[in-house]
Amino acid sequence: MLASTFRISRAVLPRAPGAVYAKRYAVSVAPPAGAKDPPPPPQPLPALPPAPPKPTSPAPPGLELLSPVWTRITDFTIDKAEGAWVWSTDGKKYLDFVAGIATVSAGHCHPKIVKAASEQLGKLVHGQLNVATHKPIAALMNRMKDFVKLSETDRYFFTNSGAEAIEASIKLARHATGKTNIITFEGSFHGRTVGTMSLTNSKSIYRRGYQPLMPGVFVAPFPYTYRSQNRGDENACSAWCLKKIEDMLKMQTAPEDTAAILIEPVLGEGGYVPAPAAFLKGLRKLCDENNILLIFDEIQSGIGRTGKWFAFQHHDVVPDILTFGKGLANGLPLSGLIAREELHKKWVPGSHGGTFGGNAVACAAALATIDYLKADYMLENAQRRGVQLVSALERLKVKYPIAIGEVRSKGLMVAIEFTDRVHKGTANLITQFALSHGMLLMTSGAFEVIRFMPPLTVTEEEMKTAINWFEKSVDAVLGTKF
Ligand SMILES: Cc1ncc(COP(=O)(O)O)c(C=O)c1O
Repeated sequence: MLASTFRISRAVLPRAPGAVYAKRYAVSVAPPAGAKDPPPPPQPLPALPPAPPKPTSPAPPGLELLSPVWTRITDFTIDKAEGAWVWSTDGKKYLDFVAGIATVSAGHCHPKIVKAASEQLGKLVHGQLNVATHKPIAALMNRMKDFVKLSETDRYFFTNSGAEAIEASIKLARHATGKTNIITFEGSFHGRTVGTMSLTNSKSIYRRGYQPLMPGVFVAPFPYTYRSQNRGDENACSAWCLKKIEDMLKMQTAPEDTAAILIEPVLGEGGYVPAPAAFLKGLRKLCDENNILLIFDEIQSGIGRTGKWFAFQHHDVVPDILTFGKGLANGLPLSGLIAREELHKKWVPGSHGGTFGGNAVACAAALATIDYLKADYMLENAQRRGVQLVSALERLKVKYPIAIGEVRSKGLMVAIEFTDRVHKGTANLITQFALSHGMLLMTSGAFEVIRFMPPLTVTEEEMKTAINWFEKSVDAVLGTKF
């Protein structure tokens, strides 16, 4: 009734920005106060257009020996890289909005970081921490304590990959509390080792065929507001999720058995979803009341990506254990955790470690990365480029209101989520069109989400180029359909 009263015809609709949408769905104007229009009627969706050919480049002999277990978003081989760009072996240039999956924070091959790592290579490559300590690791911890503080007595543990940092955090939590169980979240990604895949819930492929999992893991709902019953209401969604965890402690894993709650303050592989501050505060309270440790996994969200050194610093909530990795050494493998001394003292010496943890070259690169990001105001740049990108994506959302459900961000951790009305594979197809323009992009999570993770050093001009190519790619996939 409402819709028929207030619909206007296609002929009088403005052409932009909602013109494409308007072609298919009549737009309602000025309904009476308090009245709600019914949603537009479902339309059969036309098939997706064919994918553009994937760019290739000459592959050096030997590549065929690589295990196919690695899936890949391109068919080319990278020859060299600089800043936000990579070159394939045929000389073609690509704008890198993947950055080694949020790893090359200071841009590829930044000269200051290359110099620091090269100089360290000539002095000491690896001391091995069971043998002796070395200067770069001391300098790195000294520098990190200037911008991240969990307590007055923070101690550091270093390892190589994100998964190893999470493994370490679980082992520390178990020794420190004498308890075993871990609560993790839907949509989380903590790694691919047997232990960490048991904590990972972003996609079932990470576990399929690898069971049984590590026991003692309980999965709670993450406040993914866009996909919750309380869409758009962060507080209601947070309260519901917190209640579920309280129930979990009553019904499934008693506080006396629960060592830690492990959460990414911004879901990474699960769709770039920031947890509301109210939820993180509620978790902190729940942990304090029940003598449970709170672990923040900031392996993807850390080292400036959200516009602060760590995402938790946007909120007034401090974890007991913080894990970091990815962006720290600008592409060299280095990860670790921070926790107060009291916890570390309960970690039985010799019960954990690792051959390459705290490698001297990786530590030197990390120190140079931090110094460069700080001196050249790259966290502020991340914040500004995030705003630039989000405002462009919001414009796209106005253009495609039926296909684009949400644009979300924390600094330069930016994602666009398509609605359940689009075809499965839409997000992936858009990334393939972006690739055909010369831009590397990745999807994220189990739904139709594309995430943007350029180096924090990306310039305004590069961002404009990326926005232009992305919009063309979206138009190619959605333009005639919505
Ligand atoms: C939040 C988070 N934790 C852990 C990991 C695992 O890191 P890695 O692949 O270095 O083992 C990742 C990787 O994407 C991550 O994003």
